[in-house]
Amino acid sequence: MAPLIVVAGIGNGSGTGAATARLFAKAGYNVALIARGSDHLTKFRDELKSGGANATDFPIKDYSVQSLSSAFASIKSTYPNSPLRVALWNAGSAVWKPFLEITPEEVQNITDTNVVGAFAFSREVLQVLTTQEVEAAAEGGLAGDRQKKGTLLFTGATASIRGNTTTSAFSAAKHALRALSQSLAKEFAKQNIHVAHAIIDGGILTAQSRNKDNAEWVANVNVRLDPNSIAAAYEYLVKQDSSSWTWELDLRPAHEKW
Ligand SMILES: *[C@@H]1O[C@H](CO)[C@@H](O)[C@H](O)[C@H]1NC(C)=O
Ligand SMILES: *[C@@H]1O[C@H](CO)[C@@H](O)[C@H](O)[C@H]1NC(C)=O
Ligand SMILES: *[C@@H]1O[C@H](CO)[C@@H](O)[C@H](O)[C@H]1NC(C)=O
Ligand SMILES: *[C@@H]1O[C@H](CO)[C@@H](O)[C@H](O)[C@H]1NC(C)=O
Repeated sequence: MAPLIVVAGIGNGSGTGAATARLFAKAGYNVALIARGSDHLTKFRDELKSGGANATDFPIKDYSVQSLSSAFASIKSTYPNSPLRVALWNAGSAVWKPFLEITPEEVQNITDTNVVGAFAFSREVLQVLTTQEVEAAAEGGLAGDRQKKGTLLFTGATASIRGNTTTSAFSAAKHALRALSQSLAKEFAKQNIHVAHAIIDGGILTAQSRNKDNAEWVANVNVRLDPNSIAAAYEYLVKQDSSSWTWELDLRPAHEKW
């Protein structure tokens, strides 16, 4: 039975979540896609299916505990025998504004998505992973018998480790996500569940970021992150066996100032 990857946060189907889903689909994983905004999600699911993947979309209206719980119940009934091996929390929301202009409602929404949503997603994933056996050599997908039940990945940002003039709400939430991932990494490693956090420290090339008047930036591989390269780094984390696990890695383009 093919292993299953769950990706939360697909955006417009051109960023990190989408690139990761594509890469694991190609490696033979079944793919469960969770996102808000069902138009982009449906289009992206169809793209994966037309490439031969077994992919299903699970649209949700928000990243609340209830929405995620019902999405995971649907995933279980769609893929009852496909062992969950990879889960990526790539969802997020942000505002970039001076502190005094950020409204309490914006703070609440950012916390709901980036923090409460990540807790709910982790809970659903870990409830499944803790009941599974370690991946068997014969299972297929990526390399076998690595003494690993599964990998839970979190997409971080520059704001995960540094606040800045307009990032009070976003950075506070991203710091919280990083702390969550470190706590989970320590708690669940003993059960052979690998939890990792990736600081994406730079601008990512997406359909949206390409739309700006920035042909030079788009063309220069040294100044922006390619989502396919981020996905390759995620695959590297997933492939690590239990003798050497990374909790955190940071990724930035060669010419990034940091
Ligand atoms: C998707 O694309 C639209 C139009 O370019 C943009 O307004 C929106 O922010 C994008 N969403 C994401 C998550 O990238
Ligand atoms: C996708 O995978 C599920 C679960 O393994 C299976 O029931 C279903 O038939 C597969 N769909 C296709 C189109 O192969
Ligand atoms: C906060 O989230 C609610 C529910 O999704 C939405 O209706 C509202 O527009 C959001 N408010 C802000 C300021 O983003
Ligand atoms: C911090 O904010 C300033 C002003 O907006 C910006 O020029 C700078 O690039 C930011 N630094 C980082 C590390 O994002």
